[in-house]
Amino acid sequence: MPKTPVLPADDRAIRRAGTLLAGGGLVAFPTETVYGLGANARDGTAVARVFEAKGRPSFNPLIVHVSRVEEAMEIAEWSGDANAFSRLWPGPLTLVLPLRDGHGLSPLVTAGLNSVALRVPNHPVAQKLLRAAEVPVAAPSANPSGRLSPTRAAHVAELLDGRADLIIDGGPTRLGVESTIVSLLDDAQLLRPGGAAREMLEAALGRPLGRAQEAPTGEAPRRAPGQLTSHYAPRAALRLNAEQAAPGEMLIGFGEIAGDESLSPTGNLLEAAARLFDVLHRLDMDGAQIAVAPIPEVGIGVAINDRLRRAAAPRD
Ligand code: TXA
Ligand code: MG
Repeated sequence: MPKTPVLPADDRAIRRAGTLLAGGGLVAFPTETVYGLGANARDGTAVARVFEAKGRPSFNPLIVHVSRVEEAMEIAEWSGDANAFSRLWPGPLTLVLPLRDGHGLSPLVTAGLNSVALRVPNHPVAQKLLRAAEVPVAAPSANPSGRLSPTRAAHVAELLDGRADLIIDGGPTRLGVESTIVSLLDDAQLLRPGGAAREMLEAALGRPLGRAQEAPTGEAPRRAPGQLTSHYAPRAALRLNAEQAAPGEMLIGFGEIAGDESLSPTGNLLEAAARLFDVLHRLDMDGAQIAVAPIPEVGIGVAINDRLRRAAAPRD
């Protein structure tokens, strides 16, 4: 018997979820990128439960979700660049900004840093839930640390049953990879490629974005935490840029390479991103050795390749 209820995302369920969140409960909910495991960002005990549920190293801070730009401005120090980027909200973009005095967040959310990662998600269920909760919601992806991110309520139920108080089912997520993270602490820097492509960000900013350097191996990932090399990992081995399957392998295709299962037979990168974690979850359950066809390094393909490289990295 499952321990965590899964409810379809109707108004009643969203009201119940809002009350749960405000009162310190953990609610998994859909965003346009992946499902998040949400907690009231002002409630240290609730946030601690998120770290515990995910088995997440506590140096790794969480993204705070709010329903409107104005709420973000109450939490972080605003700037011209923040303004430029916030025109892309609601959307798959997370901004790292200096914390503002009187922000009211639990220090656990930011893992003691003096900056905060903020996002206004573009999903009707996430929006309604944030309004119902009436608090900023800290929400990492709703998966145990280091495992594949969930793009369906069923993934969350399988990975976190008994660890969340409620799962809101809003169907499969539209984008399928996490948000792009941009730091505005110094000059605008890309910390994590994601659902918002660099081209779009640079158009909003009006100049090129810098790219943060990878933290040296073994160093606590302070500037770009969460950028641990082995991350988003399925249990099985993964081989990238495969033109064909080796014996015993399942091949994930793209475009002209059909494979056993294709991310997008027409070579559409948006479709491929949306299907990526779902296909990996499914093959992973079969315990298969997995090979993946080459994915072009353009647009959201940059985020797809980033997740694939992390999933393929040696784990021990
Ligand atoms: O699409 C998404 O971003 C999803 C949905 C649920 O919104 N959330 C998500 O959260 O991917 P999470 O916790 O799995 O990834 C958050 C990333 C981590 O790499 C974390 O280290 C980084 O954001 N982060 C959070 N606060 C930060 C800060 N102050 N400075 C730098 N990086 C930060
Ligand atoms: Mg994650």
